Order: sequence, then structure tokens, then C-alpha cells
Amino acid sequence: MIIAVDGPTASGKGTIAKALAAHFGLPHLDTGLLYRAVGRQVQLNDGDPNNPADALAATHFLDALLLDDFLRSEEVGGLASRVSVHPAVRQALYDRQRAFVEQPGGAVLDGRDIGTVIAPEAEVKLFVTASVEARARRRWLEMTGREIEIPLAEIEQDIVRRDARDINRKDAPLKAAPDALILDTTSFDKEQAIEAAIEAVKERLSS
Ligand code: DC
Repeated sequence: MIIAVDGPTASGKGTIAKALAAHFGLPHLDTGLLYRAVGRQVQLNDGDPNNPADALAATHFLDALLLDDFLRSEEVGGLASRVSVHPAVRQALYDRQRAFVEQPGGAVLDGRDIGTVIAPEAEVKLFVTASVEARARRRWLEMTGREIEIPLAEIEQDIVRRDARDINRKDAPLKAAPDALILDTTSFDKEQAIEAAIEAVKERLSS
């Protein structure tokens, strides 16, 4: 069974994908981490994430970087969003994601284009979304918890910018597959979101 979980930043898709993987006993790949590793490598190379050649050069030797502490930062998230615009970067990361999809027994992948490009054959596709305000608040609470002080308004602006870039890019933009189930987590806490996702998967499998 292949489960594709797509959605914008801070929608809860990562938490949901991880929980679905644990519940259904499947391996999980957070594909955003791959783009984050490319963005981080561009930074380490002193490159320009908007330059396709710099971004493509950064797709080599990603494995060591996947353990980098900075990958989850907002800054690297922004760099990831910039490098992910380039078709050559997306192509360079395609085979690795497909190999994960094709492993025997199935898998859960989360990202922006899993249901549309990486695993269009997925039995279950969820598109997880939430209002900008709810997503900004979650991100703010998470950062405050890590003792990172940043104004809520700044996070909100950042989310709006990142959404616009991910939605408007030409190659594999963020969008729900026509056969995806839309899960709006705006009014859900973490447990409710996980429960709704598990129910949605069960329903899809039994229909
Ligand atoms: O899910 P995330 O915030 O870790 O993703 C970081 C960026 O990587 C996101 O803004 C766009 C890009 N990305 C992508 O283009 N395709 C994916 N499947 C996953 C992430």
C-alpha cells in the first residue's frame, strides 16, 4: 500500500505521515528533507539557490547532510523552497523517491507532489491543509518551545511567501491530486488530526 500525503508548510502533513506509517507498519519518507538538504548544501557552498546550476551541483552527496542539525530551520526551509523550483533539481531527486515508493510492502511519503508526480498510483492520497493563521500559530508555538523568539507576524508572512512559491512554480507545483482526500486540520489538535487521517485511510481502503 502506498500512501501519499501532500500539503503546505506547517499543515501537519509530516506528523500525520509519521503516524500513518506507524499505524499501518510502513516505512516513511519526508521528501521535504531532500530539498532541505539541497538548500543547505547550496548555503555551505556559498551558492545562490535561485541559480539552477548552483542548485543542481548541490544535489550530489546528500546522504551525509540528511543528518545536519540545521535542516529543520526556517532559513533552510526557505532555501529548500527556492531550489525546488528548478526542474533539474526535481529530476535529480526523482529516482531516490521512486525507489522508496517501489519497495515491497509499500510506503508513506509526504511532500508537495507525491500524489501528482512521484506516486500517482498511490492507493491513498491525502491533501492536508489548514488556514495560514493556524499554521503560523503552530510554527510559532513549536519555535517558542525551542526557545527561538520570532514574531508571529513574521512567521505568517514567511508562510504566505513560501506557499506562493510552492503553488506557482511551473514544475510539479503544490496542488491536490484530483483523487486526493482533502483534510483540513485548522480546528484539530495533533491527536484529532492523526485520528481523522487514520479514519480517512481506512475509509479509502474499504471503498
Ligand atoms: O515540507 P518542507 O517544509 O520540509 O519542504 C521544504 C520545501 O521543499 C518546500 O517549501 C518545497 C520543497 N518541496 C518540494 O518542492 N517537493 C516536495 N515533495 C517536498 C518539498
